Amino acid sequence: MQDLSKLLRNDEQITLKLRSLYSSYGYAQYKMSRFEEYELYAANRAFLPAGDIITFTGANGKLMALRPDVTLSIIKSAKSDKELKKLYYNENIYRTIDGNLKEQMQVGLEYIGLADTKQVVEVLVLAKKSLDILGKNTRLDISHMSFLNGLLDSENLTVSLRSDILAAISERNIPGINQLCSKSSFSASFKEGLISLASIYGCFSDVKDRLKKICVNKQMSAALGELAEIDEILGNLGINSGINIDFSVINDITYYNGVIFRGFIDSAPTMVLSGGRYDELARSFGKCDGAIGFAVYLDLAMRFTPKENREDGSQKNAEGMLGIALPKGRLGEKAYEIFKKAGFECPDMNDDSRKLVFENPGANIRYFWVKPSDVAIYVEQGIADIGVVGKDSLLEDSPDVYELLDLNIGKCRMCVAAEKDTGKDPKEPAVRTEHTLHVATKFPNVARTFYASRGRDIDVIKLHGSIELAPLLGLSDVIVDLVETGKTLEDNNMEVVETIAEISARLISNKVSHRFKHTEVTQLCEKIAEQLVGG
Ligand code: PRP
Repeated sequence: MQDLSKLLRNDEQITLKLRSLYSSYGYAQYKMSRFEEYELYAANRAFLPAGDIITFTGANGKLMALRPDVTLSIIKSAKSDKELKKLYYNENIYRTIDGNLKEQMQVGLEYIGLADTKQVVEVLVLAKKSLDILGKNTRLDISHMSFLNGLLDSENLTVSLRSDILAAISERNIPGINQLCSKSSFSASFKEGLISLASIYGCFSDVKDRLKKICVNKQMSAALGELAEIDEILGNLGINSGINIDFSVINDITYYNGVIFRGFIDSAPTMVLSGGRYDELARSFGKCDGAIGFAVYLDLAMRFTPKENREDGSQKNAEGMLGIALPKGRLGEKAYEIFKKAGFECPDMNDDSRKLVFENPGANIRYFWVKPSDVAIYVEQGIADIGVVGKDSLLEDSPDVYELLDLNIGKCRMCVAAEKDTGKDPKEPAVRTEHTLHVATKFPNVARTFYASRGRDIDVIKLHGSIELAPLLGLSDVIVDLVETGKTLEDNNMEVVETIAEISARLISNKVSHRFKHTEVTQLCEKIAEQLVGG
Protein backbone atom coordinates (compact mmCIF):
# COMPACT_ATOMS: atom_id res chain seq x y z
CA MET A 1 0.00 0.00 0.00
CA GLN A 2 1.13 3.55 -0.81
CA ASP A 3 2.76 5.39 2.08
CA LEU A 4 0.26 8.25 2.47
CA SER A 5 2.58 10.30 4.67
CA LYS A 6 4.75 10.92 1.55
CA LEU A 7 1.84 12.81 -0.02
CA LEU A 8 1.73 15.33 2.80
CA ARG A 9 3.34 18.74 2.46
CA ASN A 10 5.76 19.83 5.17
CA ASP A 11 3.17 22.08 6.86
CA GLU A 12 0.60 19.24 6.80
CA GLN A 13 3.09 16.87 8.43
CA ILE A 14 3.87 19.41 11.13
CA THR A 15 0.17 20.08 11.72
CA LEU A 16 -0.43 16.35 12.16
CA LYS A 17 2.47 16.07 14.63
CA LEU A 18 1.09 18.98 16.67
CA ARG A 19 -2.43 17.54 16.63
CA SER A 20 -1.18 14.17 17.73
CA LEU A 21 0.85 15.80 20.55
CA TYR A 22 -2.21 17.66 21.84
CA SER A 23 -4.50 14.60 21.61
CA SER A 24 -1.93 12.55 23.54
CA TYR A 25 -2.40 15.02 26.45
CA GLY A 26 -6.19 14.64 26.33
CA TYR A 27 -7.11 17.72 24.26
CA ALA A 28 -10.12 17.33 21.95
CA GLN A 29 -10.33 19.00 18.56
CA TYR A 30 -12.61 22.03 18.34
CA LYS A 31 -14.07 22.90 14.92
CA MET A 32 -15.71 26.21 14.27
CA SER A 33 -17.22 28.38 11.60
CA ARG A 34 -15.06 30.78 9.56
CA PHE A 35 -17.19 33.74 10.60
CA GLU A 36 -18.76 35.31 13.67
CA GLU A 37 -20.87 38.37 14.37
CA TYR A 38 -18.60 41.43 14.17
CA GLU A 39 -19.82 42.55 17.60
CA LEU A 40 -17.69 39.80 19.28
CA TYR A 41 -14.49 41.35 17.89
CA ALA A 42 -15.57 44.99 18.20
CA ALA A 43 -16.10 44.45 21.95
CA ASN A 44 -12.68 42.83 22.41
CA ARG A 45 -10.43 44.82 20.06
CA ALA A 46 -7.37 44.86 22.32
CA PHE A 47 -7.36 41.04 22.51
CA LEU A 48 -6.93 40.73 18.73
CA PRO A 49 -3.72 40.63 16.71
CA ALA A 50 -2.73 43.68 14.63
CA GLY A 51 -4.55 44.29 11.36
CA ASP A 52 -8.07 45.16 10.24
CA ILE A 53 -11.03 42.83 10.58
CA ILE A 54 -12.66 41.72 7.31
CA THR A 55 -16.42 42.30 7.52
CA PHE A 56 -19.48 41.55 5.40
CA THR A 57 -23.24 41.79 5.81
CA GLY A 58 -24.99 38.52 6.75
CA ALA A 59 -28.35 37.29 5.42
CA ASN A 60 -30.30 38.95 8.27
CA GLY A 61 -28.53 42.29 7.78
CA LYS A 62 -26.15 41.67 10.71
CA LEU A 63 -22.55 42.77 10.34
CA MET A 64 -20.40 39.63 10.22
CA ALA A 65 -16.62 39.16 10.29
CA LEU A 66 -14.19 36.59 8.96
CA ARG A 67 -12.55 35.20 12.10
CA PRO A 68 -9.34 37.16 12.98
CA ASP A 69 -8.79 35.05 16.12
CA VAL A 70 -9.84 31.65 17.45
CA THR A 71 -9.73 32.04 21.24
CA LEU A 72 -12.68 34.46 21.40
CA SER A 73 -14.92 32.01 19.49
CA ILE A 74 -13.93 29.15 21.80
CA ILE A 75 -14.47 31.14 25.00
CA LYS A 76 -17.78 32.51 23.73
CA SER A 77 -19.18 29.05 23.09
CA ALA A 78 -17.65 27.33 26.15
CA LYS A 79 -20.26 26.14 28.65
CA SER A 80 -20.33 27.95 31.97
CA ASP A 81 -20.37 24.72 33.95
CA LYS A 82 -16.95 25.26 35.55
CA GLU A 83 -15.90 21.91 34.14
CA LEU A 84 -12.35 21.74 32.76
CA LYS A 85 -12.13 21.90 29.00
CA LYS A 86 -9.02 20.93 27.07
CA LEU A 87 -9.41 21.87 23.43
CA TYR A 88 -7.12 22.20 20.43
CA TYR A 89 -7.79 23.70 17.02
CA ASN A 90 -6.33 23.77 13.54
CA GLU A 91 -7.92 26.72 11.78
CA ASN A 92 -7.18 29.63 9.46
CA ILE A 93 -7.55 33.22 10.58
CA TYR A 94 -8.22 36.25 8.38
CA ARG A 95 -7.29 39.95 8.51
CA THR A 96 -5.97 42.75 6.34
CA ILE A 97 -2.49 44.10 6.91
CA ASP A 98 -1.38 47.21 4.95
CA GLY A 99 -4.35 46.70 2.64
CA ASN A 100 -3.44 43.08 1.85
CA LEU A 101 -5.88 40.33 2.71
CA LYS A 102 -4.13 37.65 4.77
CA GLU A 103 -5.22 34.09 5.48
CA GLN A 104 -2.97 32.44 8.06
CA MET A 105 -2.78 28.94 9.44
CA GLN A 106 -2.92 28.54 13.21
CA VAL A 107 -2.73 25.49 15.41
CA GLY A 108 -3.25 26.05 19.10
CA LEU A 109 -4.91 24.98 22.30
CA GLU A 110 -6.96 26.32 25.18
CA TYR A 111 -7.17 24.99 28.74
CA ILE A 112 -10.40 26.46 30.07
CA GLY A 113 -11.36 26.41 33.76
CA LEU A 114 -7.88 25.80 35.13
CA ALA A 115 -7.12 26.11 38.81
CA ASP A 116 -3.51 25.38 39.67
CA THR A 117 0.09 25.84 38.57
CA LYS A 118 0.44 22.20 37.45
CA GLN A 119 -2.11 22.89 34.71
CA VAL A 120 -0.22 26.03 33.68
CA VAL A 121 2.95 23.94 33.45
CA GLU A 122 1.17 21.38 31.25
CA VAL A 123 0.42 24.16 28.74
CA LEU A 124 4.02 25.45 28.92
CA VAL A 125 5.32 21.94 28.30
CA LEU A 126 3.05 21.61 25.26
CA ALA A 127 4.21 25.02 23.98
CA LYS A 128 7.88 23.96 24.29
CA LYS A 129 7.19 20.58 22.67
CA SER A 130 5.35 22.38 19.82
CA LEU A 131 8.43 24.55 19.23
CA ASP A 132 10.65 21.48 19.22
CA ILE A 133 8.46 20.06 16.42
CA LEU A 134 8.97 23.30 14.41
CA GLY A 135 12.73 23.69 14.77
CA LYS A 136 15.95 22.37 16.28
CA ASN A 137 17.07 25.38 18.28
CA THR A 138 14.08 26.77 20.17
CA ARG A 139 13.27 29.14 23.04
CA LEU A 140 10.18 29.57 25.16
CA ASP A 141 10.36 32.90 26.98
CA ILE A 142 8.14 33.47 29.98
CA SER A 143 6.98 36.60 31.75
CA HIS A 144 4.39 37.25 34.47
CA MET A 145 1.87 40.07 34.11
CA SER A 146 1.18 40.20 37.88
CA PHE A 147 4.90 40.72 38.59
CA LEU A 148 5.02 43.59 36.07
CA ASN A 149 1.77 45.09 37.32
CA GLY A 150 2.88 44.71 40.94
CA LEU A 151 5.88 46.92 40.23
CA LEU A 152 3.86 49.47 38.23
CA ASP A 153 1.19 49.59 41.00
CA SER A 154 3.87 50.65 43.51
CA GLU A 155 3.87 54.16 41.98
CA ASN A 156 0.96 56.39 41.11
CA LEU A 157 1.04 56.29 37.30
CA THR A 158 -1.28 57.88 34.75
CA VAL A 159 -2.70 55.50 32.15
CA SER A 160 -0.51 56.99 29.42
CA LEU A 161 2.69 56.89 31.49
CA ARG A 162 1.94 53.27 32.42
CA SER A 163 1.54 52.35 28.77
CA ASP A 164 4.73 54.26 27.80
CA ILE A 165 6.67 52.38 30.51
CA LEU A 166 5.29 49.01 29.36
CA ALA A 167 6.23 49.89 25.74
CA ALA A 168 9.78 50.81 26.82
CA ILE A 169 10.16 47.51 28.74
CA SER A 170 8.85 45.55 25.74
CA GLU A 171 11.51 47.27 23.56
CA ARG A 172 14.25 46.73 26.20
CA ASN A 173 14.63 50.48 25.83
CA ILE A 174 16.70 51.53 28.86
CA PRO A 175 17.41 55.05 27.49
CA GLY A 176 13.63 55.41 27.09
CA ILE A 177 13.02 54.27 30.69
CA ASN A 178 15.61 56.76 31.96
CA GLN A 179 13.91 59.52 30.00
CA LEU A 180 10.44 58.64 31.32
CA CYS A 181 11.79 58.48 34.88
CA SER A 182 13.59 61.81 34.53
CA LYS A 183 10.22 63.49 33.95
CA SER A 184 8.70 62.06 37.17
CA SER A 185 9.77 61.88 40.79
CA PHE A 186 9.90 58.08 41.05
CA SER A 187 11.86 56.37 43.82
CA ALA A 188 15.33 55.13 42.87
CA SER A 189 14.23 51.55 43.62
CA PHE A 190 11.27 51.84 41.19
CA LYS A 191 13.59 53.03 38.40
CA GLU A 192 16.06 50.25 39.21
CA GLY A 193 13.20 47.74 39.07
CA LEU A 194 12.12 48.96 35.62
CA ILE A 195 15.67 48.78 34.29
CA SER A 196 16.07 45.26 35.69
CA LEU A 197 12.84 44.14 34.01
CA ALA A 198 14.01 45.59 30.68
CA SER A 199 17.40 43.90 30.86
CA ILE A 200 16.85 40.52 32.56
CA TYR A 201 17.12 37.47 30.30
CA GLY A 202 18.05 33.99 31.42
CA CYS A 203 16.88 30.79 33.08
CA PHE A 204 14.95 31.20 36.34
CA SER A 205 17.78 30.04 38.60
CA ASP A 206 20.12 32.66 37.05
CA VAL A 207 17.73 35.60 37.36
CA LYS A 208 15.75 34.80 40.53
CA ASP A 209 17.99 36.84 42.87
CA ARG A 210 17.63 39.95 40.68
CA LEU A 211 13.86 39.42 40.63
CA LYS A 212 13.76 38.98 44.44
CA LYS A 213 15.62 42.27 44.83
CA ILE A 214 12.93 44.23 43.01
CA CYS A 215 9.93 42.62 44.78
CA VAL A 216 8.12 45.39 46.66
CA ASN A 217 4.69 43.95 47.43
CA LYS A 218 2.67 40.78 47.98
CA GLN A 219 1.49 40.69 44.36
CA MET A 220 5.09 40.55 43.12
CA SER A 221 6.10 37.95 45.74
CA ALA A 222 3.15 35.73 44.79
CA ALA A 223 4.07 36.01 41.08
CA LEU A 224 7.71 35.20 41.85
CA GLY A 225 6.53 32.24 43.94
CA GLU A 226 4.54 30.94 40.97
CA LEU A 227 7.54 31.33 38.61
CA ALA A 228 9.67 29.38 41.14
CA GLU A 229 7.05 26.61 41.36
CA ILE A 230 6.84 26.43 37.55
CA ASP A 231 10.63 26.18 37.33
CA GLU A 232 10.67 23.40 39.92
CA ILE A 233 8.00 21.32 38.16
CA LEU A 234 9.65 21.84 34.76
CA GLY A 235 12.99 20.84 36.32
CA ASN A 236 11.46 17.65 37.76
CA LEU A 237 10.09 16.86 34.31
CA GLY A 238 13.54 17.52 32.83
CA ILE A 239 12.29 20.10 30.32
CA ASN A 240 13.50 23.45 31.57
CA SER A 241 16.35 23.95 29.12
CA GLY A 242 15.58 26.57 26.46
CA ILE A 243 12.99 28.16 28.76
CA ASN A 244 13.93 31.67 29.93
CA ILE A 245 12.50 34.52 31.96
CA ASP A 246 11.96 37.58 29.76
CA PHE A 247 9.86 40.58 30.82
CA SER A 248 9.97 42.15 27.36
CA VAL A 249 7.15 39.65 26.72
CA ILE A 250 4.08 41.77 27.45
CA ASN A 251 0.41 41.32 26.55
CA ASP A 252 -2.66 43.50 27.00
CA ILE A 253 -3.49 43.82 30.72
CA THR A 254 -7.22 44.09 30.16
CA TYR A 255 -7.28 40.40 29.23
CA TYR A 256 -4.07 38.77 30.39
CA ASN A 257 -2.84 38.13 33.91
CA GLY A 258 -0.38 35.64 35.33
CA VAL A 259 2.04 33.77 33.11
CA ILE A 260 2.43 34.85 29.47
CA PHE A 261 4.93 33.47 26.96
CA ARG A 262 6.33 33.61 23.44
CA GLY A 263 8.09 30.95 21.38
CA PHE A 264 10.96 31.31 18.93
CA ILE A 265 12.90 29.09 16.51
CA ASP A 266 16.28 30.25 15.24
CA SER A 267 15.27 30.07 11.56
CA ALA A 268 12.40 32.62 11.87
CA PRO A 269 13.07 36.32 12.59
CA THR A 270 9.91 36.84 14.67
CA MET A 271 7.97 34.87 17.27
CA VAL A 272 6.19 31.75 16.02
CA LEU A 273 4.12 31.01 19.14
CA SER A 274 2.32 33.25 21.59
CA GLY A 275 0.17 32.53 24.60
CA GLY A 276 -0.72 33.25 28.16
CA ARG A 277 -3.18 33.12 30.99
CA TYR A 278 -6.26 35.14 30.14
CA ASP A 279 -8.47 34.77 33.24
CA GLU A 280 -9.81 38.31 32.80
CA LEU A 281 -11.20 37.47 29.35
CA ALA A 282 -12.74 34.21 30.60
CA ARG A 283 -14.37 36.09 33.51
CA SER A 284 -15.65 38.86 31.25
CA PHE A 285 -17.58 36.18 29.33
CA GLY A 286 -18.90 34.88 32.68
CA LYS A 287 -17.63 31.37 31.87
CA CYS A 288 -15.04 30.41 34.44
CA ASP A 289 -12.30 31.83 36.63
CA GLY A 290 -9.27 30.76 34.68
CA ALA A 291 -8.02 29.95 31.20
CA ILE A 292 -4.71 29.67 29.40
CA GLY A 293 -3.83 28.91 25.80
CA PHE A 294 -1.45 29.49 22.94
CA ALA A 295 -1.38 29.72 19.17
CA VAL A 296 1.34 28.47 16.83
CA TYR A 297 1.77 30.73 13.77
CA LEU A 298 2.44 27.99 11.25
CA ASP A 299 2.84 30.28 8.22
CA LEU A 300 5.58 32.24 9.96
CA ALA A 301 7.34 29.10 11.13
CA MET A 302 7.19 27.51 7.68
CA ARG A 303 8.16 30.62 5.67
CA PHE A 304 11.74 30.46 6.83
CA THR A 305 13.52 27.26 5.88
CA PRO A 306 15.98 26.23 8.57
CA LYS A 307 19.51 27.07 7.38
CA GLU A 308 20.61 23.43 7.42
CA ASN A 309 17.79 22.57 4.95
CA ARG A 310 18.55 25.18 2.25
CA GLU A 311 19.08 23.36 -1.05
CA ASP A 312 21.75 25.78 -2.33
CA GLY A 313 23.56 25.69 1.00
CA SER A 314 23.38 29.52 1.07
CA GLN A 315 23.58 31.43 4.29
CA LYS A 316 21.61 34.66 4.03
CA ASN A 317 22.79 35.79 7.44
CA ALA A 318 26.25 34.19 7.57
CA GLU A 319 26.04 31.59 10.31
CA GLY A 320 27.39 32.76 13.62
CA MET A 321 28.55 36.16 12.30
CA LEU A 322 26.93 39.22 13.81
CA GLY A 323 25.26 41.18 10.97
CA ILE A 324 25.24 44.96 11.48
CA ALA A 325 23.18 47.30 9.25
CA LEU A 326 24.58 50.84 9.09
CA PRO A 327 22.81 53.77 7.41
CA LYS A 328 24.64 54.97 4.29
CA GLY A 329 25.94 58.51 4.71
CA ARG A 330 27.44 60.71 7.41
CA LEU A 331 25.47 59.21 10.29
CA GLY A 332 26.57 55.68 9.37
CA GLU A 333 30.20 56.79 9.10
CA LYS A 334 30.02 58.38 12.56
CA ALA A 335 28.42 55.22 13.93
CA TYR A 336 31.12 53.04 12.34
CA GLU A 337 33.80 55.16 14.08
CA ILE A 338 32.18 54.21 17.43
CA PHE A 339 32.07 50.53 16.45
CA LYS A 340 35.71 50.72 15.35
CA LYS A 341 36.86 52.26 18.64
CA ALA A 342 34.89 49.59 20.51
CA GLY A 343 36.98 46.90 18.76
CA PHE A 344 34.67 46.02 15.86
CA GLU A 345 36.84 47.25 13.01
CA CYS A 346 36.53 45.92 9.47
CA PRO A 347 39.64 47.11 7.57
CA ASP A 348 38.03 46.78 4.07
CA MET A 349 35.50 49.48 5.01
CA ASN A 350 38.16 52.11 4.34
CA ASP A 351 38.25 51.10 0.62
CA ASP A 352 36.95 53.64 -1.81
CA SER A 353 34.76 50.98 -3.43
CA ARG A 354 30.99 50.94 -3.74
CA LYS A 355 30.74 47.56 -2.04
CA LEU A 356 27.82 47.27 0.35
CA VAL A 357 28.82 44.24 2.41
CA PHE A 358 32.03 43.99 4.45
CA GLU A 359 33.17 41.11 6.62
CA ASN A 360 35.74 40.66 9.34
CA PRO A 361 35.66 36.92 10.07
CA GLY A 362 38.29 37.35 12.81
CA ALA A 363 35.98 39.66 14.76
CA ASN A 364 32.95 37.63 13.66
CA ILE A 365 31.14 40.65 12.20
CA ARG A 366 29.59 41.59 8.90
CA TYR A 367 28.51 45.17 8.04
CA PHE A 368 25.91 46.18 5.43
CA TRP A 369 25.48 49.75 4.15
CA VAL A 370 21.73 50.27 3.88
CA LYS A 371 19.47 53.21 2.93
CA PRO A 372 18.78 54.89 6.31
CA SER A 373 15.02 54.34 6.20
CA ASP A 374 15.57 50.61 5.41
CA VAL A 375 17.84 49.79 8.38
CA ALA A 376 14.96 48.82 10.68
CA ILE A 377 13.46 46.54 7.99
CA TYR A 378 16.73 44.59 7.66
CA VAL A 379 16.89 44.23 11.45
CA GLU A 380 13.21 43.39 11.94
CA GLN A 381 13.46 40.69 9.26
CA GLY A 382 16.60 39.23 10.87
CA ILE A 383 18.89 39.82 7.87
CA ALA A 384 20.93 42.03 10.21
CA ASP A 385 21.14 41.24 13.93
CA ILE A 386 22.00 44.82 14.90
CA GLY A 387 21.42 48.19 13.28
CA VAL A 388 21.90 51.90 13.70
CA VAL A 389 18.84 53.96 12.96
CA GLY A 390 17.46 57.44 13.68
CA LYS A 391 14.77 57.67 16.36
CA ASP A 392 12.67 59.45 13.68
CA SER A 393 12.46 56.17 11.68
CA LEU A 394 11.56 54.24 14.84
CA LEU A 395 8.77 56.70 15.68
CA GLU A 396 7.44 56.66 12.13
CA ASP A 397 7.64 52.93 11.35
CA SER A 398 7.32 51.31 14.82
CA PRO A 399 9.39 48.28 13.78
CA ASP A 400 9.24 45.19 16.00
CA VAL A 401 12.82 45.46 17.33
CA TYR A 402 14.64 46.12 20.61
CA GLU A 403 15.97 49.66 21.08
CA LEU A 404 19.13 49.07 23.09
CA LEU A 405 21.23 52.24 23.19
CA ASP A 406 21.11 55.95 22.45
CA LEU A 407 24.32 56.58 20.47
CA ASN A 408 24.02 60.34 21.05
CA ILE A 409 24.92 61.15 17.44
CA GLY A 410 22.74 62.60 14.67
CA LYS A 411 20.98 64.75 17.24
CA CYS A 412 18.06 66.91 16.11
CA ARG A 413 14.40 67.53 17.00
CA MET A 414 11.11 66.43 15.42
CA CYS A 415 9.09 69.66 15.32
CA VAL A 416 5.93 71.32 14.13
CA ALA A 417 6.95 74.47 12.23
CA ALA A 418 5.00 77.27 10.57
CA GLU A 419 5.60 80.55 8.73
CA LYS A 420 6.53 83.57 10.84
CA ASP A 421 4.61 86.85 10.84
CA THR A 422 1.41 85.55 9.26
CA GLY A 423 -0.75 87.22 11.89
CA LYS A 424 -2.14 83.79 12.76
CA ASP A 425 -1.70 82.09 16.12
CA PRO A 426 1.39 79.93 15.46
CA LYS A 427 -0.16 77.04 17.43
CA GLU A 428 -3.41 77.27 15.50
CA PRO A 429 -2.41 78.54 12.05
CA ALA A 430 -5.52 77.08 10.42
CA VAL A 431 -8.09 78.55 12.78
CA ARG A 432 -8.77 81.66 10.71
CA THR A 433 -9.17 79.69 7.51
CA GLU A 434 -11.60 77.36 9.36
CA HIS A 435 -10.45 74.24 7.58
CA THR A 436 -8.88 71.02 8.82
CA LEU A 437 -5.21 71.65 9.58
CA HIS A 438 -3.08 70.70 6.56
CA VAL A 439 0.23 69.16 7.63
CA ALA A 440 3.05 68.49 5.15
CA THR A 441 5.58 65.89 6.29
CA LYS A 442 7.86 62.94 5.55
CA PHE A 443 6.50 61.44 8.81
CA PRO A 444 2.72 60.93 8.42
CA ASN A 445 2.41 58.49 11.35
CA VAL A 446 4.29 60.80 13.72
CA ALA A 447 2.09 63.74 12.62
CA ARG A 448 -1.15 61.77 13.03
CA THR A 449 -0.18 60.38 16.46
CA PHE A 450 0.90 63.82 17.69
CA TYR A 451 -2.28 65.59 16.60
CA ALA A 452 -4.49 62.67 17.75
CA SER A 453 -3.00 63.14 21.25
CA ARG A 454 -4.24 66.77 20.99
CA GLY A 455 -7.67 65.58 19.79
CA ARG A 456 -7.13 67.42 16.52
CA ASP A 457 -8.20 66.19 13.08
CA ILE A 458 -5.61 66.81 10.34
CA ASP A 459 -5.08 66.25 6.62
CA VAL A 460 -1.61 64.84 6.01
CA ILE A 461 0.24 65.73 2.81
CA LYS A 462 3.06 63.23 2.44
CA LEU A 463 6.17 64.75 0.83
CA HIS A 464 9.64 63.29 0.26
CA GLY A 465 11.90 66.32 0.83
CA SER A 466 12.20 70.13 1.02
CA ILE A 467 9.18 70.07 3.32
CA GLU A 468 9.68 73.75 4.22
CA LEU A 469 8.39 74.70 0.76
CA ALA A 470 4.87 73.46 1.51
CA PRO A 471 3.60 76.36 3.73
CA LEU A 472 5.52 78.93 1.68
CA LEU A 473 3.70 77.91 -1.50
CA GLY A 474 0.35 77.39 0.22
CA LEU A 475 0.34 73.57 0.10
CA SER A 476 0.00 73.24 3.90
CA ASP A 477 -0.55 75.25 7.09
CA VAL A 478 2.32 73.67 9.01
CA ILE A 479 5.03 71.07 8.59
CA VAL A 480 6.19 68.23 10.84
CA ASP A 481 9.90 67.79 10.15
CA LEU A 482 13.40 67.44 11.58
CA VAL A 483 15.18 70.56 12.75
CA GLU A 484 18.91 70.37 13.41
CA THR A 485 20.54 73.83 13.33
CA GLY A 486 17.29 75.65 12.49
CA LYS A 487 18.97 77.31 9.49
CA THR A 488 16.57 75.93 6.87
CA LEU A 489 13.60 77.28 8.83
CA GLU A 490 15.29 80.63 9.47
CA ASP A 491 16.26 81.12 5.82
CA ASN A 492 12.67 80.44 4.78
CA ASN A 493 11.03 82.76 7.31
CA MET A 494 9.68 79.88 9.40
CA GLU A 495 9.79 79.00 13.11
CA VAL A 496 9.36 76.05 15.41
CA VAL A 497 5.86 75.96 16.93
CA GLU A 498 6.29 72.86 19.09
CA THR A 499 8.86 70.13 19.66
CA ILE A 500 7.38 66.62 19.31
CA ALA A 501 10.46 64.55 20.21
CA GLU A 502 14.22 64.68 20.66
CA ILE A 503 15.90 62.60 17.95
CA SER A 504 19.26 60.80 17.85
CA ALA A 505 20.70 57.58 16.43
CA ARG A 506 19.78 54.38 18.27
CA LEU A 507 21.33 50.92 18.39
CA ILE A 508 18.61 48.37 17.67
CA SER A 509 18.57 44.58 17.58
CA ASN A 510 16.40 41.87 16.08
CA LYS A 511 14.29 40.23 18.81
CA VAL A 512 15.25 36.69 17.83
CA SER A 513 18.98 37.51 17.50
CA HIS A 514 18.82 39.02 20.98
CA ARG A 515 17.77 35.58 22.21
CA PHE A 516 19.85 33.19 20.09
CA LYS A 517 23.00 35.39 19.90
CA HIS A 518 22.45 36.83 23.36
CA THR A 519 26.10 36.84 24.49
CA GLU A 520 27.39 38.42 21.25
CA VAL A 521 24.66 41.08 21.14
CA THR A 522 24.95 42.06 24.82
CA GLN A 523 28.78 42.11 24.71
CA LEU A 524 28.76 44.36 21.64
CA CYS A 525 26.22 46.59 23.32
CA GLU A 526 28.34 46.87 26.49
CA LYS A 527 31.49 47.72 24.51
CA ILE A 528 29.66 50.39 22.49
CA ALA A 529 28.17 51.81 25.72
CA GLU A 530 31.71 52.11 27.18
CA GLN A 531 32.70 54.25 24.19
CA LEU A 532 29.73 56.52 24.75
CA VAL A 533 30.55 57.04 28.42
CA GLY A 534 34.16 57.78 27.48
CA GLY A 535 32.83 60.46 25.12
C1 PRP B 1 16.50 67.90 6.80
C2 PRP B 1 15.16 68.35 7.31
C3 PRP B 1 15.22 69.83 7.16
C4 PRP B 1 16.68 70.15 7.38
C5 PRP B 1 16.86 70.69 8.76
O1 PRP B 1 16.43 67.87 5.43
O2 PRP B 1 14.09 67.72 6.59
O3 PRP B 1 14.79 70.21 5.88
O4 PRP B 1 17.39 68.91 7.24
O5 PRP B 1 18.22 71.01 9.04
P1 PRP B 1 18.65 72.39 9.70
O6 PRP B 1 17.75 72.63 10.86
O7 PRP B 1 20.08 72.17 10.11
O8 PRP B 1 18.52 73.45 8.66
P2 PRP B 1 17.49 67.08 4.54
O9 PRP B 1 18.78 67.81 4.54
O10 PRP B 1 17.56 65.67 4.97
O11 PRP B 1 16.87 67.18 3.07
P3 PRP B 1 15.35 67.07 2.57
O12 PRP B 1 14.73 68.40 2.84
O13 PRP B 1 15.44 66.79 1.13
O14 PRP B 1 14.68 65.99 3.33
